[in-house]
Amino acid sequence: MTASPPQPTYTATLLSGDGIGPEIMAVGVDVLKAVAQKFGFSWNFQAAPIGGSAYAASGHPLPDETLQLCRQSDAVYLAAVGDFKYDTLPAHLRPEQALLGLRAGLGLFANLRPVQIFPQLIDASTLKREAIEDIDLMVVRELTGGIYFGKPKGIFQQENGIQRGVNTMAYLDSEVDRIGKVAFELAMKRDRKLCSVDKANVLDVSQLWRQQMTKLAADYPAVELSHMYVDNAAMQLVRWPKQFDVIVTGNLFGDILSDEASMLTGSIGMLPSASLGTEGPGLFEPVHGSAPDIAGLDKANPIAQVLSGAMMLRYGLDRPDAARCIEGAVEQVLEQGYRTGDIASEGTQVVGCREMGDRLLTAIDRQT
Ligand code: IPM
Ligand code: MG
Repeated sequence: MTASPPQPTYTATLLSGDGIGPEIMAVGVDVLKAVAQKFGFSWNFQAAPIGGSAYAASGHPLPDETLQLCRQSDAVYLAAVGDFKYDTLPAHLRPEQALLGLRAGLGLFANLRPVQIFPQLIDASTLKREAIEDIDLMVVRELTGGIYFGKPKGIFQQENGIQRGVNTMAYLDSEVDRIGKVAFELAMKRDRKLCSVDKANVLDVSQLWRQQMTKLAADYPAVELSHMYVDNAAMQLVRWPKQFDVIVTGNLFGDILSDEASMLTGSIGMLPSASLGTEGPGLFEPVHGSAPDIAGLDKANPIAQVLSGAMMLRYGLDRPDAARCIEGAVEQVLEQGYRTGDIASEGTQVVGCREMGDRLLTAIDRQT
């Protein structure tokens, strides 16, 4: 008799954070457990504090122990951080700082934000059916550089009593090259169209960005590279989003364009993301925030969280089988007509976060 191969165990750090974070995380974890059982692997989950709740407990939004646990895991699964009650804290203690600290601390320079529409949700979008039907694009956002991290930064007192607020948008050529490579490689696996978004008509940093992207294109002759100014890209995204396959852009432009792109899918509550470095664990989280206004009311849409779990399986743990199962389950539940409030439309049945989770578990069970 031959022994069956040992079941792999993946260590994932769970960062629930604030607001709706714990509710959507609970659903996300149930789904991950269900696919593990189905596909014969297991989880070693370790929860750690982050964001406002970590600040409240220990005085810092990203405690050292949390970052250490993340470093020691195979993947990091995050929900959301932020709450109105922390809005008056000094900048370095605000919950959002925890995200920046995690990104920098884990070297997560590449942020992938896929924008796909489920056919069942076309009517939930504010855009016309013909504009959004079948859209499938990917925003590749640089995540550890640009104006989010550039120096000098701060609010400086001038001699004359005037205050000056400063941030610096800066990129090294090597930083552009490494995010560019990720985007070109992704484009190779998709429709081989890459649009680099910048503001090269005004910003020097963008001129360098464009120059490096153009140089890189020589290594990827199969990919059709185009360049677009960010203001035009914002307009084109709502005018005719189907023209895009992969978009690559800097930190700030990517932040803005990915929120805009999310609305093509009907709700920001549907969009997952993956943040990857060259080595070490990736970070997987919904694009949306902590929605403190609906926290604890069982109204949150857990689907972006659940789909982030699918991205964790696909991009972080090389388990495309389990990832596909989760995505199939989401589609099935939408097909059955269940919706959280943010994506509800006529003739659908509105359910809470928890019930959406239960429906997803049933659908996972039924996936073949
Ligand atoms: C995002 C968020 C964050 C960002 C904030 C919360 C720091 O908007 O992940 O898109 O600006 O990157
Ligand atoms: Mg954002």
